[in-house]
Amino acid sequence: MDLWPDGVGLAAKLPLLFFLIISATTGSVRAKIHYQKWEVAYQFKSPDCFQKLAITINGRTPGPTIIAEQGDTVVIDVKNALLTENLAIHWHGIRQIGTPWFDGTEGVTQCPVVPRDTFTYRFVVDRSGTYMYHAHYEMQRSAGLYGLIRVLPPAGVVEPFIYDYDRSIILNDWWHQNTYEQAVGLSSKNFTWVGEPQSLLINGRGKFNCSNAGGGVCNATNPECSPYVLTVIPGKTYRLRIASITSLSALNFEVEGHNLTVIAADGHYVKPFMVKNLNIYSGETYSVLLKAEQDPSRNYWAVVNVVSRNSTTPTGTAILNYYPNHPRRLPPTVLPTGPLWNDTMYRFNQSIATRSHPDYIRPPPTTSDRMIILLNTQNCIDGYVKWAVNNVSLNLPQIPYLITLKERMLHAFDQKPAPETYDYKNYDIYDVQKNRNATASTSIHRLVFNSTIDVILQNANTMKRNNSETHPWHLHGHAFWVLGYGMGKFDPETDPKRYNLVDPIMKNTVAVHPYGWTALRFRADNPGVWAFHCHIEPHFFMGMGVVFEEGVDKLGKLPVAIMGCGESKHIKP
Ligand code: C2O
Ligand code: CU
Repeated sequence: MDLWPDGVGLAAKLPLLFFLIISATTGSVRAKIHYQKWEVAYQFKSPDCFQKLAITINGRTPGPTIIAEQGDTVVIDVKNALLTENLAIHWHGIRQIGTPWFDGTEGVTQCPVVPRDTFTYRFVVDRSGTYMYHAHYEMQRSAGLYGLIRVLPPAGVVEPFIYDYDRSIILNDWWHQNTYEQAVGLSSKNFTWVGEPQSLLINGRGKFNCSNAGGGVCNATNPECSPYVLTVIPGKTYRLRIASITSLSALNFEVEGHNLTVIAADGHYVKPFMVKNLNIYSGETYSVLLKAEQDPSRNYWAVVNVVSRNSTTPTGTAILNYYPNHPRRLPPTVLPTGPLWNDTMYRFNQSIATRSHPDYIRPPPTTSDRMIILLNTQNCIDGYVKWAVNNVSLNLPQIPYLITLKERMLHAFDQKPAPETYDYKNYDIYDVQKNRNATASTSIHRLVFNSTIDVILQNANTMKRNNSETHPWHLHGHAFWVLGYGMGKFDPETDPKRYNLVDPIMKNTVAVHPYGWTALRFRADNPGVWAFHCHIEPHFFMGMGVVFEEGVDKLGKLPVAIMGCGESKHIKP
């Protein structure tokens, strides 16, 4: 197996040589420690040929792929060399069992890392699968701080499928405007939306048409924007680990002329099903198998298209190169256009088709202790545009919840519990809401440790007539069972009777489709404070999220390194 992240040139691979693997033998279990040193800095980059100030890790965006085995420990020294900007990095999909303070969620689990500081993240990757990391501070993720985590099963454990080669594909959307301007536009009274992305990136590479570049620096022959090439040997089977870290776009991935067999989602094995193309939402990962069994005399397109928004963004392209054709030889065909952008049922059906592999079912608890219904709406607060959940838009407090809850500094955030439901009898999800006004709050949901929680995500109309968006919701610290999806308004009396309690897939990110609902169940069994939010970067920035607390009293001393903001700087370790 190729240990290097694919699509990375030799020069870029060299820093990975500093990746140390230290073996530590404890009893009969052999867990390794993977140590990396990262410097996070702004650099001019041209991932789509257009030059932009991007956030890089050791000079690269996407950053290095973290490769470890289940049970290993990952230690990353992150030096904030952004000079004028704070930083926090989240390990998306890693549950942080016993280390909630290293979840990297600024405002929730840690104070931001200030410029020139170094913060050491140390956590165990407790489950095999494909995960991601990314910045979790304001709009920083959109500036390019992201990468993949590949956790291999323990030695000797066989997976329920066979393949010859393992490859990673990370998808992103990309704007030329810097994230500060975007953030200011989103948080001004004179609201300015970020708009559709200029490019879609496959493994950090896209192609902007430089003749539209206006005043910017754009060089179509810059090697940074030469398309990603996936070289295949005829007859071999490839596992593609596909991850989406987009700031906004729901994507559809397609390899021209090749079917894809979906085998895993968010680190859980799926009952295999075949698709012509794969819908993937921000924060999700899928493994698919691709067999190189087409006419080997030519190359093929691998593409991503925006779905769910009527986007102007051009198709993102990569090349599936059949060895020994020249890797840069363009396929002789036109680009696949993907499904219709507004074919909601097509995407809905793929969501429903994603079930647990029969041999790996972890049955969900058959009943739950509490049902939380979260209505997703676009709102106004004092003339600002916001997103809200049950008409409350999340404001992160100055001191992270983990610190204030553990240290009982309960004046530091709104103690009134966050609303658990909305007026579902009278609310019309198909209409622009009558009262757009919301409130902003730092309030949270406190959960009984070890209880079973059901969360229903209810979608609705936005502030625009006949418009409802797709929201991918991501839960930190857990995997949840996906019990069901529906169209229209969730009925708490009848719909739970239709839950799939037989073979639900477990995930950490799930979509709620336009005008639809999605039901999840999880066990509140991981002491800590966990964000649950829409993974669309501007939506979370505008308040589309909630926070869960469970079992914080069970935690030992918090590391001093996460403190230092607001009053938390006075806490004596
Ligand atoms: Cu990948 Cu809180 O996000
Ligand atoms: Cu959203």
